[in-house]
Amino acid sequence: METAPRLALLISTCLWAALTAGAAEQRPLYMDASQPREARVENLLKRLTIEEKVALLHGDSKFTTAAIPRLSIPRRWMSDGPHGVREDIGPDTWNPAGRTDDFATCMPGLVALAATWNPETATTYGEVVGSEALHRGKHIMLAPGMNIQRTPLCGRNFEYMGEDPYLTSRMAVGYIRGVQSQKVAACAKHFAANNQELDRGSINVEVDERALREIYLPAFKAAVQEGGVWAVMGAYNKFRGQHCCENDYLLNKVLKGEWGFQGLVVSDWGGAHDTREAALNGLDLEMGTEKPYAQYYLSQPFLEGIRKGEYPASVLDDKVRRNLRVMFATGVFDGRPAGAFNTAEHQAKARAVAEEACVLLKNASDAVPLDLSKLKSLAVIGRNATTLQTHGGDSSGIKAFYEITPLEGLLRRAGNQLNITYAAGYGERDSEKLLEQAVTAARQADAVVIIGGLDHGRFHDTEGTDRKDLQLPYAQDELVRRVLEVNPRTVVVLLGGSPMELGPWLAQIPAVLLAWYPGMEGGNAIARVLFGDVNPSGKLPFTFPRRLADSPAHALNAYPGKDGTVRYEEGLLVGYRWFDTKKVEPLFPFGYGLSYTKFEYSNLKLVKAGTTNGAVARVEFEVKNIGTRPGAEVAQVYIHQNQPGLPRPFKELKGFRKVSLKPGQSRQISVSLDASAFAFYDPTKRGWVTEKGIYTIFVGSSSQEIRLQGELEQAAASFERDGT
Ligand code: GLC
Repeated sequence: METAPRLALLISTCLWAALTAGAAEQRPLYMDASQPREARVENLLKRLTIEEKVALLHGDSKFTTAAIPRLSIPRRWMSDGPHGVREDIGPDTWNPAGRTDDFATCMPGLVALAATWNPETATTYGEVVGSEALHRGKHIMLAPGMNIQRTPLCGRNFEYMGEDPYLTSRMAVGYIRGVQSQKVAACAKHFAANNQELDRGSINVEVDERALREIYLPAFKAAVQEGGVWAVMGAYNKFRGQHCCENDYLLNKVLKGEWGFQGLVVSDWGGAHDTREAALNGLDLEMGTEKPYAQYYLSQPFLEGIRKGEYPASVLDDKVRRNLRVMFATGVFDGRPAGAFNTAEHQAKARAVAEEACVLLKNASDAVPLDLSKLKSLAVIGRNATTLQTHGGDSSGIKAFYEITPLEGLLRRAGNQLNITYAAGYGERDSEKLLEQAVTAARQADAVVIIGGLDHGRFHDTEGTDRKDLQLPYAQDELVRRVLEVNPRTVVVLLGGSPMELGPWLAQIPAVLLAWYPGMEGGNAIARVLFGDVNPSGKLPFTFPRRLADSPAHALNAYPGKDGTVRYEEGLLVGYRWFDTKKVEPLFPFGYGLSYTKFEYSNLKLVKAGTTNGAVARVEFEVKNIGTRPGAEVAQVYIHQNQPGLPRPFKELKGFRKVSLKPGQSRQISVSLDASAFAFYDPTKRGWVTEKGIYTIFVGSSSQEIRLQGELEQAAASFERDGT
């Protein structure tokens, strides 16, 4: 190379080095993604003024916090889920923002996800929601909801994951990992013991320490310690006399003290009530208070208190650190990926989850799948066949890109092979005429599909109200009875997110399929299950009682509370723990679900493990598909302590595996149990204890259909003393 050009190259290289070095000098450490997160937090924290620090601790619109342009801190966006990314709301009201770019993929409800009993599916589900949140520029998804189903009446049961803490833990951790893999923070809600909508903003929950630790906290603890969740939402209710969003025991002692939570605690919208309580009892981000933003408890009032020296700087800085950690974790300063929105892949996953969630509750003489070759006509009856559900339920409502109703799904799947008629069967007016039209349609068809169940109306499955009873609304029992009278070849598909009383006609109906709130692809999923393209594999994440009075909170008259307080009198005996221990026969038990094939269980071995990876025992057995169709089975492992030192439920879910098997195929399954699987919480020791003694291990296809059992001796162990 000639001398002159080489010289020019040398000079330009030196100039470039000088410039970038200078730029590197000017670019602050917190903007450098290669730096450790805590170093970035500290580097940014020290640059913030007190006013800027306080600005990060409260909303400046319904779902955002203020930008701080001086430091390149952008506006932070939050959005509801959990079934998809909610349409934009506000900015300063609860009205939709009226955008046209916020139609989202609507997944099935979280209780449907729980019914899959498949943590991998939960992760896939979370990836879809997180990817769409990323695309929409959201930093925090206000999901998953994970409150335990204590009463079948709770209006938000459809948004949660059932009655068992272990199942809820596995599914919530999967969901959180999926969302957060997309650089979007998930938010475990509503912390804690928010198990009814009635008087939710004021009700005070009194629950004993064992029930708190063994039933209501485990899913949140798993969310923090296994899921690494970046945000937790305080609940509306009070807990032992203090609002959950300002609760020293729950937020400071348990969540941050014992569990080591490093993320932020956000209030439920309007869940903050007092500056001092919020400041000192663990609230880090106040949202939705019904006041001007400057008057939020953690806004000016808190700033004034700091200036007067009423709060140590450490209180303020800890809150700011937690908010900054979540910002760095969600790439706020680092350029975020584009995400994806309403892709064919997301839509396919929405359908796959809806299919996997379907629970076959009854199938006498193989009434389903429907055999198209033997049918010429099909009557589809029930307003739920055409009702749009995805936008309902209040804060979890999604403005779906489209919604395939059950009728549409059936028409798409079989409309060119069958003469499909539709009759609403019930309605606000002309109910007798609608009923007669439905009966006529049923009489004239080869077979009938009734699409019944619940919806997101007030006092049904919706936020803000609880149900009044477990009956099917709109006189559906009479509709089913009248249709069955004229056409015994009738199957019922139930939509809904909580238990329903099916007593009046269950004995007569050939088949019942529970499809939940199946999301935007629900109609396609229902059709594919009904016509046998898909073999249902869902299992109930909660008990269906025969009647409401059989449920523990109602049997003990411990709902909805009195004089502003609800006492969880049933203690540990929530859901199947009550039905099994008190020997009350449910309509359908926890963990129940049929298949179009059959499974055989054999060769149980209970192996005392060394302490490899903490496991103390392995439950090994075989499952075989002895039917004629491929299918998936959820094998469930429950423990029972033969002579417990403290009262315990008769059995407790401590493991499960979902296996897909071809006809004739069998699979060896091994479920490892660590010492905690045998433990109970001992309030006198303020820690978890595994007592030395004999335990019975049940392996079942539901909590009541026990297929194998054996006994195992356990050594004593104690651990996890709480930090208080
Ligand atoms: C609602 C719900 C909560 C939701 C929040 C924001 O009242 O309780 O789950 O995330 O407010 O919409």
